[in-house]
Amino acid sequence: MKMMVAASLNNIIGKNNKLPFTCKEDLRWFKFMTMDSSCLVGRVTYESLPKLPGRKLVVLSSKAINGVTSVTVDQLEKEIAIYKCDFLPKWVIGGKKVYEFCLSKNIIDEIYLSRIQEECEGDVCLPEIKGFRKVSELKLSKDCILERWNK
Ligand SMILES: NC(=O)c1ccc[n+]([C@@H]2O[C@H](COP(=O)([O-])OP(=O)(O)OC[C@H]3O[C@@H](n4cnc5c(N)ncnc54)[C@H](OP(=O)(O)O)[C@@H]3O)[C@@H](O)[C@H]2O)c1
Repeated sequence: MKMMVAASLNNIIGKNNKLPFTCKEDLRWFKFMTMDSSCLVGRVTYESLPKLPGRKLVVLSSKAINGVTSVTVDQLEKEIAIYKCDFLPKWVIGGKKVYEFCLSKNIIDEIYLSRIQEECEGDVCLPEIKGFRKVSELKLSKDCILERWNK
């Protein structure tokens, strides 16, 4: 699975259940990369998202959610154990709890981190990323540098 996340220079990723920054280039990048793919998303983030046409969302939650494919942690753990990574959505798109879960299960092989070139306030920070190294950087604009991290 690939992890897609945007963080400020001081590692903030969320504020009041929204993105704490606005970066058009990053939103375009997110759309470009995730289009026509399946994406695992936490219930809290799901509730804050606008419609994402062209993306198949799989919502991680303890309860079934009307009108959307949802999966519990137990089901996901079984799928990981039985099918290894074949079943899993291509992307994990947050939030923090879902990133932490996927990182702890060792099912992330690549991280796309958009580094928003500002410090900001917020209530959710980037989880600790261990065992990955930065393999490339691309300056998308003066406001955003894309980092790719591999194992
Ligand atoms: N900057 C970025 O790239 C980015 C991307 C996405 C989100 N965000 C931000 O991240 C924040 C939300 O993150 P969050 O961590 O609060 O919420 P979250 O990960 O979006 O969702 C948490 C919910 O998902 C379910 N869940 C996830 N992992 C679980 C686990 N291991 N065990 C049991 N249930 C689990 C639970 O749903 P139930 O309560 O229904 O059981 C839990 O309450 C928001 O501020 C959002 O804007 C930022």
